[in-house]
Amino acid sequence: MTPIILSGGSGSRLWPLSRKLYPKQFLALTGEQTLFQQTLQRLSFEGMQPPVLVANQEHRFIVLEQLEQIGQQAQMLLLEPFGRNTAPAVAMAALQLVAEGRDELMLVLPADHVLDDQQAFRQALALATVAAEKGEMVLFGVPADRPETGYGYIRSQVDGTLPDGVARVASFVEKPDAQRATEYVKSGDYYWNSGMFLFRASRFLEELKHHDVDIYDTCLLALERSQRDGTQVAIDPATFACCPDNSIDYAVMEKTSRACVVPLAAGWNDVGSWSSIWEVHDKDEAGNVTKGDVVVEDSRNCLIHGNGKLVSVLGLEDIVVVETKDAMMVAHKDRVQDVKKLVSKLDQQG
Ligand code: GDD
Ligand code: MG
Repeated sequence: MTPIILSGGSGSRLWPLSRKLYPKQFLALTGEQTLFQQTLQRLSFEGMQPPVLVANQEHRFIVLEQLEQIGQQAQMLLLEPFGRNTAPAVAMAALQLVAEGRDELMLVLPADHVLDDQQAFRQALALATVAAEKGEMVLFGVPADRPETGYGYIRSQVDGTLPDGVARVASFVEKPDAQRATEYVKSGDYYWNSGMFLFRASRFLEELKHHDVDIYDTCLLALERSQRDGTQVAIDPATFACCPDNSIDYAVMEKTSRACVVPLAAGWNDVGSWSSIWEVHDKDEAGNVTKGDVVVEDSRNCLIHGNGKLVSVLGLEDIVVVETKDAMMVAHKDRVQDVKKLVSKLDQQG
C-alpha cells in the first residue's frame, strides 16, 4: 500500500497564521510537530511503502526540510506548478504508479488532519483494505454531529456484497449549504467525509476517466511532459494550466457508484478552520483558548491567538482574534468558514 499525501493546499481558512508560502500543513498547530510530520509518522508500520507526496513547487524546500527533521524519505515528490485542487493531484499519483507497473492500493491522506487514536485508525484501515482489494472506492466516514458546511456528507445503506462493517454510499453531497447540512445532521443518518480515501490506482483512474475525462487526459500529458530529477517530478506548467480545477469529491466521489464507507472513530479533526483549532485545544473554565501574551476578561468560548503584541479582550463570546506580525483578524466563530472570502478579497486588492 502506498500513501499519497496531499499537501498542496493553501489553508486559507486559517489566515492570517496560514499563508500561501507557509500553509497550515507545515505549521505546528497542535503539538511539537507540524501536521504534515504527524501525518507521515502515523504511517510508519509494516506493509506501508514510503509516501508519494503531492505538493506545490513553492513548498519543495519546506517539504524536504520537514522530512529530514523526522528522518523520513519520500518515494516520490510530485511538484505542481500551481494548485488545481485534489482530483488532478490524486490522478497524477495514480497515473505515476500505474506507469511504473505498480497498480497498488493508494491511501490518500490530507497532510493537515489530526487523528488521536492510532489503533482505531489501523482497525478502520484493515477493514477498508478488504473492500479496496475487491475494487471498491473506500471513504472513511466520521459521524456528523454539527452542521459544518465545509465537509462532504455521506448517507450509507446496507449492501450484502460488502464485508461486514462496510456500507455502500447511497449519496455523497460535497459542501452542502447550511440548511441542508442542518437537515442531514438532524436525521442522524449521515457521516462526514474525512477526506481520506483508499482504492486501487487503476480503479480510481477508471472512475476518473468515466466522470471527468478532461482531468484524466490533461494529467496524463502533464506527467509525460514533466521534468524528472531523481525522485522529484516537476509537472509541466503549460500542460497543467489546461487542467480543470476540481476536487476529488466533486469530480469523482459524488458521482461514482463504487463508493463505500468505513466508519472512523479515531478522534478525527481536520483543523480546517479557527473553530476546529478552538475545539482541539484545552480550554480554561470559561471555554476560552488562548495563546501568546493575552489578557481575557468576562469572555466565553473565544479563541485569542497573540503572536508578539499584547492582546486584551473584554466581554466577548464566541469570537476568534488572531494577531500576527503584519495582520490581525477578528471574526465570529460561526463565520470562520468564510475567512477564505477575506483572503480572496485581499488577493484581489493585491
Ligand atoms: N497537492 C495538492 N494540490 N494538494 C491539495 C490541493 C492541490 O491543488 N488542494 C488541496 N490540497 C490538499 C490540502 O492541503 C488538504 O490536505 C487536502 O488536499 C484537502 O483539501 P482541502 O482544500 O483542505 O479540502 P476541504 O477541507 O475543503 O474538503 C475536503 O476535506 C473535508 C474534510 O476535511 C473534502 O474531501 C470534504 O469532502 C471533506 O469533508
Ligand atoms: Mg481541509
